[in-house]
Amino acid sequence: MIRFDILSVFPGMFTSAFECSLLKKAQEKNLIEIQIHDIRHYAQDRHRVTDDAPYGGGGGMVMKVEPIDRALQDVAPDRDQALIVLLTPQGETFSQKIAEELATYPRIVLICGHYEGLDERVRAHLADREISIGDYVLTGGELPAMIIVDAVARLVPGVLGNAMSARTDSFATGLLEYPQYTRPAEYRNWKVPDVLISGHHREIDKWRRRESLQRTLARRPDLLKQADLSADDLSMIEALKSLREGTE
Ligand code: ADE
Repeated sequence: MIRFDILSVFPGMFTSAFECSLLKKAQEKNLIEIQIHDIRHYAQDRHRVTDDAPYGGGGGMVMKVEPIDRALQDVAPDRDQALIVLLTPQGETFSQKIAEELATYPRIVLICGHYEGLDERVRAHLADREISIGDYVLTGGELPAMIIVDAVARLVPGVLGNAMSARTDSFATGLLEYPQYTRPAEYRNWKVPDVLISGHHREIDKWRRRESLQRTLARRPDLLKQADLSADDLSMIEALKSLREGTE
């Protein structure tokens, strides 16, 4: 069981994302719990202000530190058990490896920053880890928080129907996944490869491994450097490379 607490000034953004599909089922089965907290609720002034003008001048508004600190004290008073993650484009880039690390915590608190600015003291004193989901700028950390909850939740045992799927999917194995097909065997003259219909399991495994290697070589050669490859894989890669050179 992992509990996620999300601190946001736009709590309404999360409802549909977490009330569908596998994440909904995972909550119903008590495999994960997701609580959304409105940062505004923790603002003390009458107008519930959560941002203010930057010291030193300049445009834009800056998210204030006190409402976030007060929210954290309420949501995770016992900080030892929880990992506090701040979402901004300046963080380390999210990856399957980071998802696996996060999945080892019983509690994760996600603070959704807003790019026009966030008081630096949130970063310096409140967050344990700062994460970006990629080198592009979004309007806020809400979509990144959803992505992180999704990627981490599916690693919790029992969330995916088939226990195998999290282990064999792309990135978990270090290679891209092989192509998959289902019925019908032929559609508009587009045929499923014969080997998959042959029933020869050893041939099927060989074909799948070759396709995985070929696809990774073509699309993400960077992944091959870190993948766990056998001697057979390495000679297959050499063969695929010389085949490609021959067709160029
Ligand atoms: N907030 C705005 N852009 C972001 C990004 N790419 N990752 C995480 N948080 C963000």
